[in-house]
Amino acid sequence: MREVIIAPSILSADFADLKNEIKKVEQAGAGWLHVDVMDGRFVPNISIGVPVVQSIRKITDMPLDVHLMIVEPIKYVKAFVEAGSDIITAHIEACKDNAETTIDEIKKRGAKAGISIKPNTPVKDIEHLLEKLDLVVVMTVEPGFGGQEFMINCLEKIREIRDLADTKGLDLHIEVDGGINPQTAKLAAEAGADVLVAGSYVYKADNIEEAINSLRS
Ligand code: DX5
Ligand code: ZN
Repeated sequence: MREVIIAPSILSADFADLKNEIKKVEQAGAGWLHVDVMDGRFVPNISIGVPVVQSIRKITDMPLDVHLMIVEPIKYVKAFVEAGSDIITAHIEACKDNAETTIDEIKKRGAKAGISIKPNTPVKDIEHLLEKLDLVVVMTVEPGFGGQEFMINCLEKIREIRDLADTKGLDLHIEVDGGINPQTAKLAAEAGADVLVAGSYVYKADNIEEAINSLRS
């Protein structure tokens, strides 16, 4: 099995104390920092945007894994790269017919490119893009909120994507986002995921280091 990267989502952090909240997961050995950007249109919630990424960039060297849950993501790629994002993920459902152009734009600006699929979106909708991608994000909850329950039927899509990547000989990260705890982390990793996003499980834990270790093991 590949080495697993834990990517805590700051959506569940205390925004009034964000610097400390980020330092805590960094010191506890988190691999990437997952930043959930929501516009109140693609998803029924509003979170944070470019200025917050800019500020976070100054206080951590962790790769910033920016998950855009917004309509017309291509319009904001430049701003998020300039703010310091290392990896930018757009939703296939938000790209309409410009997914390839969106991926090209992310790469041209100098970030790694990801595409995410919601729980009801089939793998075939992104299969033709895999060669171009660094990352596929499989949503295991409906995007919009932290603290929801892992949708077990999405595991099959992780297997399907890992099989496709192996067959095509691609070095592709598969990230799982939503409802990750030690039990679901194990299932996701066994299915072929190598990046696990965890918001509420990490930030609600009494001991963050133990929480991150338990996800990794
Ligand atoms: C949901 C976000 C997730 C969320 C995960 O739309 O994309 O990244 O923060 O939170 P948990 O781990 O609590 O399900
Ligand atoms: Zn996310």
